[in-house]
Amino acid sequence: MRLSLQAVLGALLFGGLVAGNLPAADKPDAVSDFERDVLPIFEVKCLRCHGAKKRDAKLDMRTMDALLKGGVTSPAIRPGNAQKSLLIELLHYNEMPPKKEIPRVTKEELALLRKWINAMPVTPAALPK
Ligand code: HEC
Repeated sequence: MRLSLQAVLGALLFGGLVAGNLPAADKPDAVSDFERDVLPIFEVKCLRCHGAKKRDAKLDMRTMDALLKGGVTSPAIRPGNAQKSLLIELLHYNEMPPKKEIPRVTKEELALLRKWINAMPVTPAALPK
């Protein structure tokens, strides 16, 4: 049986309508702000180990500059490329916070963080060496 063009178009339209009903964080055009949207997540779930008191893996997550500098491995984020960002990779594989630590990062928060990174302008200084 062949899929009719109408069915395909219908599915696309339906997908579009569903996407239109998603919360703000999941809309492609909703740009996240570091201090307003991202830092509050980090404060609750990451800064205990990557902030003022501790810098596990030498990573400080309190500022954009520090995230771009990153920790012992590499920059934590790559502007414009969430997929190649270490921070996202570790969250995606549920490796951060370290196993058994709570609270974990939710799917919605991960989606917000991905969009935040993908929406960042790519500046020469932020490109990997
Ligand atoms: C309980 C302490 C703890 C918490 C909470 C924690 N981390 Fe970590 N993080 C670590 C430790 C320890 C390492 C080093 C792990 C290793 O080398 O195997 C690390 C490493 C990392 C690295 C790699 C840095 C590098 O360059 O090697 C990233 C990125 C990271 N954490 C992100 C996060 C994020 C994002 C959160 C919050 C969602 C978070 N961490 C919460 C302890 C923590």
